[in-house]
Amino acid sequence: MGIAPATDDGSTKVQDQHAYFKVNNLRKLFPLNKRGQFWGKRQYIHAVDDVSFEIKKGMTYGVVGESGCGKTTLARTMMHLEEPTSGEMLFKGDDITKFNRKQMTSLRRQMQMVFQDPYGSLNPVRTIHNIVAEPVRVHSIFDNKRDEIDKVREMLEVVGLPSDNQTLEKRPNEFSGGERQRIGIARSLILEPEFIVADEPVSMLDASVRADIISLMRRLKQERDLTYFFITHEFGMARAICDRIAVMYAGRLVEVANAAAIVDHPLHPYTQLLIDAIPPLIPDENWGKTIPEGEVPYFTVPPPGCRFNPRCYKADELCRSEMPELIDYRNGHYVSCHHVSGPGQIKK
Ligand SMILES: Nc1ncnc2c1ncn2[C@@H]1O[C@H](COP(=O)(O)OP(=O)(O)OP(=O)(O)O)[C@@H](O)[C@H]1O
Ligand SMILES: [Mg+2]
Repeated sequence: MGIAPATDDGSTKVQDQHAYFKVNNLRKLFPLNKRGQFWGKRQYIHAVDDVSFEIKKGMTYGVVGESGCGKTTLARTMMHLEEPTSGEMLFKGDDITKFNRKQMTSLRRQMQMVFQDPYGSLNPVRTIHNIVAEPVRVHSIFDNKRDEIDKVREMLEVVGLPSDNQTLEKRPNEFSGGERQRIGIARSLILEPEFIVADEPVSMLDASVRADIISLMRRLKQERDLTYFFITHEFGMARAICDRIAVMYAGRLVEVANAAAIVDHPLHPYTQLLIDAIPPLIPDENWGKTIPEGEVPYFTVPPPGCRFNPRCYKADELCRSEMPELIDYRNGHYVSCHHVSGPGQIKK
């Protein structure tokens, strides 16, 4: 399968006018309490708050942010596993938030998810055969067992696992974490999707097998012409594999740019903090001493101003009172910070 030449942002050229996957002003709020405790008003966690971005076909689009910033909620909403509170999601030009059941069934064959937890996401009582075959059964792809078994074997080989009868009859607990994630990947690819949403696919694995799974995912992307939406909390991981990176903080995107631009020239103080948190290759006893403490807050009533202002060394009155817009600083390098005042202009 040939891949079109990559553009400067790493994407392959889209044939039509539409962006491949476009998200406009997406919001996902979770109700916090059944009955309002606050003057009878119901309170909500703003897990994804007014998020917009665009993924081009063939790219690996990364979302980076600390625990609790809304990455999984964003991924699950894109996969229709959560209903969006508001906003649009366009896949190849169609607004998938308005899809009916039949359209959703066909969409599910094109978009699949790889989950974070290779231990919890595979049903422990089912055999590997049943786990990998499940999507083709749900979609009634084969009408005989022989074709189904052949396809399951093919998928196991594709992800580098044995495909003999004995392996097919094993259960997940007979495999290591890395092998289980390979099984999860085989299951997500059996319907031959084109768009993969991977939610921290290696964060629960030992360092020794992480690189193997990442190189497997890279190879599969090439061979199968896939587009990836890749979530991670480690900036170093995003830098290594993504073409474009969006940095998320407390439900909002604070910076979006091509990987090289964001690494060489981070504009948002939060992105700078994430880059400073990448461990150095050569141990340095001063590393980490400049990283400010703090956790991603969750908001039921978001305060005015920039969400990052309580942790930001640049925060001033404006940052505490007005939410900065996500603006195009230079050639598609977007940032949401009052200290970047306009195209190409940084304030002290
Ligand atoms: N089903 C739910 N009901 C209520 N609140 C939820 C639900 N799912 C997520 N949240 C809340 O939404 C916020 C974002 O959670 P989410 O799991 O999306 O973050 P995350 O960035 O994926 O974190 P992690 O890195 O730990 O996986 C958190 O405050 C979380 O508690
Ligand atoms: Mg998560």
